[in-house]
Amino acid sequence: MDLTLKIWRQAGPEAKGEMKTYPISGVEDDMSFLEMLDFLNEELIENGVEPVVFDHDCREGICGMCSLFINGEAHGPGRKVTTCQLHMREFSSGDTIYIEPFRAKAFPVIKDLMVDRTSFDRIQRAGGYISVNTSGNTIDANSIPVRKNDADRAFDAATCIGCGACVATCKNSSAMLFVSAKVSQFSLLPQGQPEARDRVLSMVNQMDLEGFGNCTNTGACEVECPKGISLENIARMNRDYLFASLSSNK
Ligand code: SF4
Ligand code: FES
Repeated sequence: MDLTLKIWRQAGPEAKGEMKTYPISGVEDDMSFLEMLDFLNEELIENGVEPVVFDHDCREGICGMCSLFINGEAHGPGRKVTTCQLHMREFSSGDTIYIEPFRAKAFPVIKDLMVDRTSFDRIQRAGGYISVNTSGNTIDANSIPVRKNDADRAFDAATCIGCGACVATCKNSSAMLFVSAKVSQFSLLPQGQPEARDRVLSMVNQMDLEGFGNCTNTGACEVECPKGISLENIARMNRDYLFASLSSNK
């Protein structure tokens, strides 16, 4: 397969970036998108050109490190796939592929296609946890009854891998889908109740401090989310936030 790649190159956070063109030949259908970039980088290194910087880790769709805006879509064409699970068979020889970083004020570019998503880590630190008594009197989690429906919805919310595609896709750069998933995975379970009010207030507050935009119910985030996180989590978080605001002294 012969392709023309148009890739965003940016030397550093303050540098002016630009799209650069790289023709590439010999790409195979069964290569993943990231393997195709590895293949390009080997060629660039051989020719004395600095390789393209991009994020990746597990390459199995579970860590949330890969990103990339491919032909104008977060994680590229296809639904419920991460960039690392996208295969070159989705493209045809002769195609031109535009590859850009996830763009949002709260995700500044570090270099080329790599962006800083530590704003998500700070939101998690603000409340994305539960406290458990580990003094020796810990109650076995399996002994606490949880309704099947609640367990399923909590599990679905917990499948969010924190990739940030929802932010990159949203016209407001809103992180509401991510934050609502991280709030819901606890708020639906008995273990999450003691800190429920503080959690939703603190995580939403941190989200605002990080400079993410607000949700205007467009729904693009849900469409592009590789894990199919539902908008119903945003509605639940908004209810939890309202309740917590009215009943909190904070
Ligand atoms: S909600 Fe979906 S798109 Fe957003 S961070 Fe989680 S997995 Fe990624
Ligand atoms: S590299 Fe881990 S989800 Fe893509």
